[in-house]
Amino acid sequence: MNSSERFASIDELDSESKYLIHKAKEATQHSYAPYSRFHVGAAVILDDNTLILGSNQENAAYPLCMCAERVALYSLGHLFPEKKIIKIAVVAHKKSSKDLTPAAPCGACRQVLVEYEHRQQAKIQIVFMTDNMVWMKYPDAEMLLPGSFGNVHLLS
Ligand code: THU
Repeated sequence: MNSSERFASIDELDSESKYLIHKAKEATQHSYAPYSRFHVGAAVILDDNTLILGSNQENAAYPLCMCAERVALYSLGHLFPEKKIIKIAVVAHKKSSKDLTPAAPCGACRQVLVEYEHRQQAKIQIVFMTDNMVWMKYPDAEMLLPGSFGNVHLLS
């Protein structure tokens, strides 16, 4: 798989992705989003099948809000620094509805995903829902943020 894939229905996704989507949905229950009312969950699976979840955590000082993806990624970076990330699924729903709504990882989370990918020297697959309930699967983080800033720029 060297390009992004589109799935018209969740049923068409591989079973690992479906499992992560299910877990990411569960993670939204711990979202603290009283300001945006946009509840995001992320589920990450590691190379030994460890599962790490995250949800967005907001603050009255708005710039301090933290995305679900980074809550999960920084958590595993601390807990399991030697393990590799295989895949992350991201989902969201609005407070008013349990139905999933489209949510793509923001630019900051893409930047963090790219750095984890470089650090572990292995690709990270990314799954999320886009418009019209279409699911996207990306084979690596680099594809979501081409030409990103990295340690190479600091060292050169
Ligand atoms: N959010 C995420 O958790 N992940 C993203 O990639 C995009 C945005 C959260 C941040 C904020 O709590 C809410 O969604 C609205 O922006």
